[in-house]
Amino acid sequence: MKETKKLGRFEKLSRDVLISTSKMLKDAKDELFHGIHGRVLEVGAGIGVNVYFFNRPEVDHWVAVEPDRKLVDECHKMVADMGDRVTVFQGYLHELEEPPESFDYVVFTTLLCSVPEPGKIVKEAHRFLKPGGKLCVIEHIGDSFGLRAGFQMLAKYPWRLATGCNCRNNPVPALSQPGFWQNVDDKVDLKIAPLRTKRFSPLLQLLKPFVMTTLTKK
Ligand SMILES: C[S@@+](CC[C@H](N)C(=O)[O-])C[C@H]1O[C@@H](n2cnc3c(N)ncnc32)[C@H](O)[C@@H]1O
Repeated sequence: MKETKKLGRFEKLSRDVLISTSKMLKDAKDELFHGIHGRVLEVGAGIGVNVYFFNRPEVDHWVAVEPDRKLVDECHKMVADMGDRVTVFQGYLHELEEPPESFDYVVFTTLLCSVPEPGKIVKEAHRFLKPGGKLCVIEHIGDSFGLRAGFQMLAKYPWRLATGCNCRNNPVPALSQPGFWQNVDDKVDLKIAPLRTKRFSPLLQLLKPFVMTTLTKK
């Protein structure tokens, strides 16, 4: 039998932050994932919080890519009800052996803040999408001014060291690659994601605001 690794105290905290973030983003995700169907590739699935949106008959198959072994174990537990309609792949996106242009949707939820080369991930994700397929994105973005922007600047390096996440994330350059998306000439437009604000971890204050978009492959 495969040995599952226990989460340490800090990993439990990270898991709780992922769950709180997803609850806070419920309305945004309802909107973003409305109509999702067919073959879905999720990059950086974490513990699998998006199961609540993908466990529906319209989703034929969900490939959840996650490199972290402990998160993969948690993810297997989260998605167990979906049976063979889900594959949890332990590895990085560039290691995934699926044919190019074989997915209807690619999903990033709070991914680009924690990858060293976000432009490369967007390129790989774009390669997996069918023409006309959609990239659904929710990311947090560094605040532009005010108290929170100041806190983010102070916390940027310790936060990154502790969590691997860049609280001053800016997903626009990585997403705005020339010739990738329909109706995008220059920079992609991101809209502010609605948040449910009650009773969530104070740590999440550091990550606001959140932004979202759906891009269609040319
Ligand atoms: C902040 S977490 C978000 C997890 C999940 N998307 C969510 O919304 O709860 C980012 C995840 O991306 C994963 N990741 C980082 N680089 C990756 C890569 N190159 N390919 C796939 N996943 C990656 C990390 O291991 C981490 O679990």
